[in-house]
Amino acid sequence: MSGFDPDWLALREPFDLAAREAAAQALDVPAFAARPRRRRGPDAALQVLDLGCGTGANLRALAPQLGGPQRWRLVDHDPQLLAVLPIALQSWALSLGWHAERTGAGLRIEAPRLSLDVVWQQADLAADLEGLRLDDTDLVTASALLDLVSADWLARWIARSRAAAAALCFALSVDDRLHWQPSDAADDEVHALFRAHQRRDKGFGPALGGAAVDVALPLLARAGYRCATAASDWQVDAAQGPAHRAMLAAMVDGIASAACEQDPAAVSRVRAWRARRHALLAEPSAMGLVVGHTDLLAWFD
Ligand SMILES: C[S@@+](CC[C@H](N)C(=O)[O-])C[C@H]1O[C@@H](n2cnc3c(N)ncnc32)[C@H](O)[C@@H]1O
Repeated sequence: MSGFDPDWLALREPFDLAAREAAAQALDVPAFAARPRRRRGPDAALQVLDLGCGTGANLRALAPQLGGPQRWRLVDHDPQLLAVLPIALQSWALSLGWHAERTGAGLRIEAPRLSLDVVWQQADLAADLEGLRLDDTDLVTASALLDLVSADWLARWIARSRAAAAALCFALSVDDRLHWQPSDAADDEVHALFRAHQRRDKGFGPALGGAAVDVALPLLARAGYRCATAASDWQVDAAQGPAHRAMLAAMVDGIASAACEQDPAAVSRVRAWRARRHALLAEPSAMGLVVGHTDLLAWFD
């Protein structure tokens, strides 16, 4: 879970989806989508820009909730993820019995009550925030990105979005909550190191990590946005089968590796924590993890 390789993104996607479905019920996404649709007219495509798209998980989660005609522009700096993106989108659409075909520069997906024109582009959002075209964009969205950026980058992005009259949807920002079942005496120390590691520079300046939504809310209010948030927590439970067990193993390893990198003096205690967690996973006994995330919608009237 240290990088953003396609396997890690695929492993987390079902947990992201379940978490976002729970949040969507509290957030009323259809009402959120209705505002720009009213401005544009019911038959015009909603123009959506997805930042840090990876292999397209945000589109797969959000597009069905938005419904109707949509045109998505997906942006990432990683060419490997962008190479996987059209394959992942096509197989997602086909698995749902929808029609998907490659167009010249992108992909077209047709489904009942949903039509999607999708294009993608490689761009470094940290290096060239101002270079990304925003005119004619109704909605800027990102999933699992806000906690990677800095307060300065976010303030500049919000200013640009407001100037373009774009609504915002930031899904799955971590919020520092981590609860293991059962707990371990070293959880607090390991979690503190992990949280500190999440705030290291990820290319955008000091990362917001678990403070992302708390920092975003006043910035958005000052820019004139109205906001709503809802918890979108991962619920991981070893008793639910192999996918959950694989996710738990990846989380144990990822947290341990980040914690060791953060404080080499704590390596022996972190490794012991990791070994105890893996030993529990190897038993039929229950082990569970809740990872706190928050989804955020921002709009203006
Ligand atoms: C945690 S992943 C989330 C991917 C996807 N949105 C999802 O939910 O599965 C963060 C994404 O941000 C992208 N990213 C990180 N830094 C970036 C940058 N400077 N410019 C563009 N994309 C970036 C990564 O390549 C990765 O795809």
